[in-house]
Amino acid sequence: MLEWFARIELSSLSVAVREVWWVFPSVLVIHSLSMAMMAGFGVVIAARATGRVASLATTTLRRFEPLFLAGLLAAGFSGLVLLWGYPAKALTNPLFYLKLIILALSTWLTLQLSANRWSPHMQARLAVLSLAGWIAMIFAGRFLAYTHSVLLASWLISPAGG
Ligand code: HEM
Repeated sequence: MLEWFARIELSSLSVAVREVWWVFPSVLVIHSLSMAMMAGFGVVIAARATGRVASLATTTLRRFEPLFLAGLLAAGFSGLVLLWGYPAKALTNPLFYLKLIILALSTWLTLQLSANRWSPHMQARLAVLSLAGWIAMIFAGRFLAYTHSVLLASWLISPAGG
């Protein structure tokens, strides 16, 4: 597996993500904006589903759902570029897989709450789960930078990096 990661690391896109000074931070900016689009919609939908801020009509809020889906696309795309830069760093870290599981769950919960599919009692319970999910996503994403055990597989295979 490490050989595969090392091969990716030596591709020109991966080298550019790591070594062209503006690429990594710019992709992180896109990742953060898409995170805001997803978590922003998720939190508003969940807040409404708790029943405590019910003055906003569900149909009004649902009009923003395309923004959430666009955020998902942009997060996926920018996340893949970040991953391409440092494949071993993320893919050898269990937290990365936990992040993807929480992402799938929180996305499903937000779309369920947005469609108003459940009874008011169940909506309120799922809303708490969904809120916790979006908070956990942001923690998991940020902590990825500090919890990895491998930075570059190519360093392990050849200390010279080649
Ligand atoms: C859709 C699939 C996604 C993939 C493949 C992905 C992948 C990644 C990767 C590889 C990193 C870099 C970690 C590092 O610095 O080592 C990252 C950072 C991060 N991700 Fe994601 N991500 C995805 C979606 C999301 C979503 C939906 C959120 C939040 C709602 C999110 C929140 C974050 C945060 C907060 C960071 C840290 C940014 C920083 O360092 O300033 N990610 N992600």
